[in-house]
Amino acid sequence: MSRVPAAATVLAVETSCDDTCAAIVTGDGRIRSNVVASQGLLHERYGGVVPEVASRRHLEVAGPVIEDALERAVAGLGDVDLVAVTRGPGLIGALLVGLSTAKAIAAARRLPLTPVDHLHGHVVASTLAPDPIEPPYLCLVASGGHSFLARVDEPERYEVLGRTLDDSAGEAFDKGARLLGLPYPGGPAIDRLAREGDPTAFEFPRSRPGSGLDLSFSGLKTALLYRSRELGEQATRQRAADLAASYQDAIVGALLARTREAIEQTGLRRLAIGGGVAANSELRGRVRRLGEEIGCEVSIPDFSLCTDNAAMIAGAARFLAPIAFPGYLDLDAYPRAA
Ligand code: KG4
Ligand code: ZN
Repeated sequence: MSRVPAAATVLAVETSCDDTCAAIVTGDGRIRSNVVASQGLLHERYGGVVPEVASRRHLEVAGPVIEDALERAVAGLGDVDLVAVTRGPGLIGALLVGLSTAKAIAAARRLPLTPVDHLHGHVVASTLAPDPIEPPYLCLVASGGHSFLARVDEPERYEVLGRTLDDSAGEAFDKGARLLGLPYPGGPAIDRLAREGDPTAFEFPRSRPGSGLDLSFSGLKTALLYRSRELGEQATRQRAADLAASYQDAIVGALLARTREAIEQTGLRRLAIGGGVAANSELRGRVRRLGEEIGCEVSIPDFSLCTDNAAMIAGAARFLAPIAFPGYLDLDAYPRAA
């Protein structure tokens, strides 16, 4: 399956949004280090990621983060056999910092380089050690930028079976959190607050657009807006935990319903989840229970492999053909999904 020798050392760099990430992974999928320098606090005061601020911070910390990843893996640049890097989709300025850095490291040592699609990384995060999932499997990817269900027959590619027609699940969490006065990023904040609330306290719409496996979350966010207006500021604050729990229940319920349908339609007996929203405790619990209920093998990656990270980029690079030096020097980043 892997195109990279089992013992090869892959250095991966990921800078598609607001996390500066570097990892060292072996060709057989063992993670020797996985470093993430989060810019969360830097963007918190703006209530979301400011692209130019993100690019500048990536420039400052990319070098130290890569050094840290090498140090934690007890390796040096001389040990690296292959450089992998996220080429898109994401914030173009942020992507270019990672791509230029990776090219420079690879070119200086005449190493091959593998450009990786960020979403492919999320899709194959579960194929990494210690408990790799084997294709064919169904993958639910729910992140800040994307939400989709994919069929993976071979790890080098995936087929999207259904996707969100408007907001991603992560956006629904982030925008909902903002309406509830919670800090950015909203997903973890809602996840925490929902534990103290009643998920049946409020009714939220569960829209199921079309007849396929598509998703939609924008109506949900609007419903929360109207609900908080009806309640008024004080009652919204007082009942924030119930609102968070009910709102989270609606998002997770919609994801689960489509996942169940996809399993029924495809007949696939393995399921993996990925993307930042896969760190949600309610989603993780319900996916696990779904697997037990319908006898489907479920792979729920460690939190560090759900939110953005470079190990998943190295993970995907194992299945792709590397580009030999100097073929990658004029490679460009792409902001939108390929
Ligand atoms: O995959 P990711 O780190 O970045 C993108 O590729 O977009 O996903 C970030 C998203 C954010 O919207 C964040 O609020 C959400 O993942 N998220 C969560 C949780 N942790 C992160 N959503 C719900 N519950 C969580 N525990
Ligand atoms: Zn992501």
